[in-house]
Amino acid sequence: MSSVDLDKYFKPDLNQARKRSKNTIEELKFDLSDAHYKIGIGKTYMVQTFGCQGNEADGETMAGILELMGFTKGLSEDNVDVIIINTCAIRENAELRIWGTLGRLKAYKKQNPDLILALAGCMAQEENVVERVLKKYHHVDIIFGTHNIHKLPEYIETAMFSKEKVVEVYSQEGDIIENLPKVRNHKFKAWVNIMFGCDEFCTYCIVPYTRGKERSRSKDEIIHEIKELVETGYKEVTLLGQNVNAYGKDFQDQNYTFGDLLRDLDGLGMKRIRFQTSHPHDLDQKTMDAMRDGKSIMPHFHLPVQSGSDSVLKRMNRHYTKESYLKVLADLKKAVPGIAVTTDIIVGFPGETEEDFQDTLRLVEQADYEGAFSFIFSKREGTPAAKYIDDTPEELKKERLYLLNEKINQGYLKGNQRFLNQTVKVLVDGVSKYDSDILAGYTEHNKLVNFKGDSKWIGHIVDVKITAVKTWFMLGEIV
Ligand code: SAH
Ligand code: SF4
Ligand code: F3S
Repeated sequence: MSSVDLDKYFKPDLNQARKRSKNTIEELKFDLSDAHYKIGIGKTYMVQTFGCQGNEADGETMAGILELMGFTKGLSEDNVDVIIINTCAIRENAELRIWGTLGRLKAYKKQNPDLILALAGCMAQEENVVERVLKKYHHVDIIFGTHNIHKLPEYIETAMFSKEKVVEVYSQEGDIIENLPKVRNHKFKAWVNIMFGCDEFCTYCIVPYTRGKERSRSKDEIIHEIKELVETGYKEVTLLGQNVNAYGKDFQDQNYTFGDLLRDLDGLGMKRIRFQTSHPHDLDQKTMDAMRDGKSIMPHFHLPVQSGSDSVLKRMNRHYTKESYLKVLADLKKAVPGIAVTTDIIVGFPGETEEDFQDTLRLVEQADYEGAFSFIFSKREGTPAAKYIDDTPEELKKERLYLLNEKINQGYLKGNQRFLNQTVKVLVDGVSKYDSDILAGYTEHNKLVNFKGDSKWIGHIVDVKITAVKTWFMLGEIV
């Protein structure tokens, strides 16, 4: 295999991916051709997903396509016909896990040469990843990216019958494909994409390169999908986009943005509507008003801040200052009293000083976050920040992360304490990981609650009185 001609493949190119074309986005309908219908009968598949909710939603589509082709879900790696590794490129440790998985799967391919192994998702959009897989991971049969999931049937057919390696990754986004089948991972909670891509270009982030330019799904398609979910018994949807607050900004023929969409979705019969993720500089009053008025729009807002230092925010290309962020937050809390706010924070961004870090700690207190995801900056090849001088020692970054997490945890506890002795509505997810007599579910404010109860409540919304609070969860009793 050492003589593989690497140039014959359709590989990604990050410089191309950076460009934003003026092309109008078409809406196309997925349709499985007759030739692909029965290919999978008697065969099994596995989709292993490593990334964010958007990545998980893509994994549900891949499973949907495979089941339409006749494949059924397989249970173990050593006894399955197709494995798709649906990857994430957001940080180095996400990628390390995937390299490990790819290495491990080599043994199964040896055992079963007919096994088809596919690499998909955000890592497949990176040129250095594809080069490395082609040179060193010869057991991978298919590499396809985030823009051509709908072509999976063709790729499977080629790998299965022509025994040829398939590498097809588009650097730029294509059209919006509707009518894609899905096998959803949950029975009463669903992901619904409302837009794809990201045009923010935060300097540390690989997503605008791996997911292409922002494009919004039509409101009719979104409403149709949610109505269908209501009819099939779903209780909660999470609207997905890298920056949902930019929804509709790409529509050329109408003035219809995220606030309008929230108003139209409220009242469709879906009990709970959540969304993720928001960018502070696109969050507008119309959205806040829709949240205030919408009975089904849940009072939780994930509003990533990334840093509390203006100079770091500037170098991150975040388009806001600490002051303007706090102003948006104050407006939000005024519009929706009692709303729970959570965030994302990066420590150890190149050039972050002790003073910058202290600014972040102060902001966490001022913002009164009730939860946060915290990360150490991870250098992503091809992004602007990868070239910034990064001279903060690793040890110091770890110490900052530790101090930050201590502060964040105080916020988690405080956020839970405000519900002590109150009765809250909980959508019951299932039994607790630790005790099968205990049910677990989330409140409207997205707080985890454990309580005794019958498993018949799974998938239902029940009233629970909170009797004790911990940092990470609350305890209660059904009333
Ligand atoms: N579009 C979303 C989510 C992006 S990824 C948003 O803007 O919020 C989720 C989080 O991962 C980001 O908010 C950021 O905090 C973190 N992240 C992204 N790139 C990173 C990097 N290179 N190193 C460390 N953390 C990163
Ligand atoms: Fe990445 Fe920024 Fe886009 Fe979020 S908004 S996906 S952090 S570029
Ligand atoms: Fe990861 Fe891609 Fe999501 S990089 S976080 S899977 S958009």
